Amino acid sequence: MKQVFTGIRELYTPRSRLEHAAFAVQEGRFVWVGAQDSLPEAYRAWPRTDLGGRGVLPGLVDAHTHLVYAGNRLDEYMQRARGERYEAILAAGGGIYATVRATLAASEEALYEEARARAQIFLAQGVTAIEIKSGYGLLPEAELKLLRVIRRLKKDLAQHVFPTLLAHVIPKGWARSQYVQMFCQELIPEAAQTGLAEAVDVFCDEGAFTLDETRQILEAALSHNLRIKLHAEQIAHTGATKLAAELGALSADHLEQTTPDDWQALAKSSTVGTLLPGAAVILRKPFPKARAMWEAGVKVAIATDHNPGSSPLFSPWLGMQLTVSLGHLSLEEALVAHTEHAALALGRSDLGIVEPGAWADFVVVDSVQALEALYRWCHSPIHSVYIAGRWVWGSQSVL
Ligand code: NIG
Ligand code: FE
Repeated sequence: MKQVFTGIRELYTPRSRLEHAAFAVQEGRFVWVGAQDSLPEAYRAWPRTDLGGRGVLPGLVDAHTHLVYAGNRLDEYMQRARGERYEAILAAGGGIYATVRATLAASEEALYEEARARAQIFLAQGVTAIEIKSGYGLLPEAELKLLRVIRRLKKDLAQHVFPTLLAHVIPKGWARSQYVQMFCQELIPEAAQTGLAEAVDVFCDEGAFTLDETRQILEAALSHNLRIKLHAEQIAHTGATKLAAELGALSADHLEQTTPDDWQALAKSSTVGTLLPGAAVILRKPFPKARAMWEAGVKVAIATDHNPGSSPLFSPWLGMQLTVSLGHLSLEEALVAHTEHAALALGRSDLGIVEPGAWADFVVVDSVQALEALYRWCHSPIHSVYIAGRWVWGSQSVL
């Protein structure tokens, strides 16, 4: 399939800004990107789609979601709004454990349908690649059930899907060492052999896994050739960020409690620092110091952390806007953080950018100014969304 897209008033690649741009797409990938009036001869006869003089941005990448779960935690949200602590609710057997109980009671089919509907909401906002974690199963069979749901989503969704096995918390009734052993000796090998997960993530924090347990799990994952990533420094400072950098993790996520030392460790490594503004603001935690991290040389990404507890956030745009206002990034930096850097947090350099060789995933903004999508709060003017050069959402008319 060959196609040329023209009528792009403003394009962010995301690092450069082009006016009156065009691109050519072949077999789902960009093969040429540039000014429309310099379209090379070779592409001039290809079928054309005129985007109507609109702005275009790279497809957004959401590198951290817990999309598969049942039930909601409205009651807990109300309790927390009255001042109860997330940590105390979790320690008392609520929080993540409440979602585990609801998820256990739901059928595989119901979990699939609900997650698919959520993914559609993300698609309508321009999320063209999405990481999806397990983690609300805990027990081996239940975790595998969630990974099977994610595999089905990967097959059926328009988006690129990146499946992750998450060690979330120790289930009630298990000795800590027994659970860690089961995770390393049963779940990780099974996920690796069946291809059900590409990465392993650990919630390394107070109330979840210790630094030692986290190291054991991550080393087991590496020995099975799985990529690794971490929930790090959200509630307490545990040393997880440095461990992520040391072990070559794809990303260390949350980072509310990180110190300049942690940023140095990330800056010297290939590990991306993924900020989750939804969880920080919703749990009333200190907002991650995005500006200082960026200046320290950390590759900063932004993700929704969509989940029913700490971040029932459906909007990547709001995540970027919060990071601009509270984390002091510029609009252009926030965009890089939710596209190019977010893709690196999935180990992918062919997503989240508009460059020859990358997947032709892009968002058409219903404005001549592409960044109007970031300027308008709670009403981003998205005209249409394309994945691999194919229209997947919104209007197909240029009018
Ligand atoms: O990324 N922090 C741990 N895990 C999730 C929250 C899960 C939940 O509250 O259900 C997070 O914030
Ligand atoms: Fe999370």
